[in-house]
Amino acid sequence: MAANHLNMFDVKKIRDDFPILNQQVNKKPLVYFDNGATTQKPSSVANEVLAYYLNKNSNIHRGVHYLSAQATLDYENARETVRSFINAKNSDEIIFTSGATSSLNLLAFSFGEKFISPGDEIIVTEMEHHANIVPWQMLCGRKNAKLKVIPFDNNGLLLLERLPELISEKTRLISVIHTSNVLGTVNPIKEIINTARRHNIAVCVDAAQSVQHLPIDVQELDCDFLVFSGHKVYGPTGIGVIYGKEKWLEQLPPWQGGGDMVDEVSFDKTTYNQLPFKFEAGTTNYIGAAGLAKALEYLSNTGLDKIHRYEQSLTEYAMKKFKEIDGLNVFGNVSGKACIFSFIIDGVHPLDTGMVLDKMGIAVRTGTHCAQPVMQHFGVDGMVRASLAFYNTTEEIDYLCQGIDQVKKMFL
Ligand code: ALA
Repeated sequence: MAANHLNMFDVKKIRDDFPILNQQVNKKPLVYFDNGATTQKPSSVANEVLAYYLNKNSNIHRGVHYLSAQATLDYENARETVRSFINAKNSDEIIFTSGATSSLNLLAFSFGEKFISPGDEIIVTEMEHHANIVPWQMLCGRKNAKLKVIPFDNNGLLLLERLPELISEKTRLISVIHTSNVLGTVNPIKEIINTARRHNIAVCVDAAQSVQHLPIDVQELDCDFLVFSGHKVYGPTGIGVIYGKEKWLEQLPPWQGGGDMVDEVSFDKTTYNQLPFKFEAGTTNYIGAAGLAKALEYLSNTGLDKIHRYEQSLTEYAMKKFKEIDGLNVFGNVSGKACIFSFIIDGVHPLDTGMVLDKMGIAVRTGTHCAQPVMQHFGVDGMVRASLAFYNTTEEIDYLCQGIDQVKKMFL
């Protein structure tokens, strides 16, 4: 089955759309396996950003002149593209931010201001990356609230059976990573949301590592909030999204003050703009939004279902290959996992592994992957991570395996 999906996907054609992939690094063809940190951009995204700076630039929502009106139209069309991509009910539920981190900080501030009181509780998982831990810790510090944690087992499976005992009448929000950026685990968010519903608890889904790998429908999921970053879905840096159900966003106070988020301003009193502008203070990254729209269009045209099936085949292929390598420890082994492989070679420091692979033209991430609690779980200082995308190939996985053999020869 895996082989069929591998053959059915025209990866060569896809790669032609990503010019950066066609280069040599350290005199070897680049193998880009650091997609969890950031993805590469198709030409359509880069061309749109360039066209903006060369021909289309003008501030949005602020001018009656032609360029401003066009840029405003593009920006609101980009919002509609995001809405359609995650199937939100209406585009007022889509707020542009600078990235998933800023989306989570917005939520921690605004939700916290309105709904968190001393003694209240927020639940996250042990496999969160720092952006879905620290803003909640800061909120808990401000409000004297408590952060609780759903643990995972050594395979990287979330221990969902622990959720009921963590929930109390003080639980206000569960904020959960959809796909772990270290383990690749795809968490059963629908089940978490169903449990939360029975207790009237809001749920935020951190989709930073999932929205580029599988189709997401926020209405079907029935999540209250969902966040993701543009640069991890093949879009520009500095743009991100927070989706929120209108009933919540209407109630939340703005988190930053400035132009555009206001209705009337005087020294006595300020009233705020309507959704979604209430949460978009100052000049937003409208060029990033236009680029993000191109990225999402590219994914939709390619087909998220097709991408998901191809990447699942890459995962099966890679996991099978990795099993054949002595002394290779892969962290995260839950079925259906995303194409994210964190590993340590017995007796070799991750940094050394990363440097040898780099000499072979293979780009991986080394370190704690912004998820120190996951490292603490396994009692390690760091890991190597190969995170793949739909422009990667089985040949590149084979080459990584050769690279791992090379590391072993050099260090063991
Ligand atoms: N959270 C991003 C990563 O996993 C930065 O690399």
